[in-house]
Amino acid sequence: MKFDVLTIFPEMVSANLQEGILGRAVKRGIVDVRIVNIRDFARGAHRSTDDRPYGGGDGMVMRPGPISRSLESIDRVRGRSHVILLSPQGERFDQETAWELSRWNQIVLICGRYEGVDERIRLTCIERELSIGDYVLSGGELAALVVMDAVSRLIPGVLGGERSNLEDSFEDGLLEYPQYTRPRVFQGQEVPPVLLSGDHEKIRMWRRAESLKRTLERRPDLLQKARLTPEDKSILARLKKEFDTL
Ligand SMILES: C[S@@+](CC[C@H](N)C(=O)[O-])C[C@H]1O[C@@H](n2cnc3c(N)ncnc32)[C@H](O)[C@@H]1O
Repeated sequence: MKFDVLTIFPEMVSANLQEGILGRAVKRGIVDVRIVNIRDFARGAHRSTDDRPYGGGDGMVMRPGPISRSLESIDRVRGRSHVILLSPQGERFDQETAWELSRWNQIVLICGRYEGVDERIRLTCIERELSIGDYVLSGGELAALVVMDAVSRLIPGVLGGERSNLEDSFEDGLLEYPQYTRPRVFQGQEVPPVLLSGDHEKIRMWRRAESLKRTLERRPDLLQKARLTPEDKSILARLKKEFDTL
């Protein structure tokens, strides 16, 4: 997977590619991240990438020329490349979108700054706008890193254990069950005995029930779309009854 990140703050992106799973994937060449400094494509004595908004108002707007020339400078994988603008006005980025993006060969991420990018960039160069949540960041760099991290985890070979992402929250529409490690007793709290039983079927059932319980308590909205087995439905019916009697 190739990511091209267009930004006026390249170090903000590169600094976050040194560590962790994404950093390892980059080092191993499974993920290739190229950072394009939009300022390198700015013209004029000041090489400015922004200007005042037409019509007046506060703040600055990113000029279309440097962004469009930055985009033209990129080697595009024909038919397998997707151009995305990070924007609080975009469609909400979630696990389903991460899976969808993981199937592209190249993802180009444009990071806005100031009041955002000139509307003509959105109208002519962008295939999709993604938001990482209903809040406003100062720039798209953190959002681009969020997208790259979530997508990279889904690429074969990036995670050590090939199966581990399949049990993560959201993968089957539910939140993940609680996790425990050593010590067995921490501040008087014991690890649930079933996890020490060695009985894989019992552990699987306990985890599934905890996953359903957690989702019902914290994100009942997810249950509408979750893939539920008849066993899940009967666990949920029991949990709902328990909650009603509380
Ligand atoms: C200060 S914001 C601009 C907000 C814009 N004036 C508006 O009200 O929609 C600057 C840049 O940060 C990025 N950004 C801010 N919030 C974001 C979010 N929730 N998701 C993705 N990108 C975001 C975008 O690239 C945006 O162009």
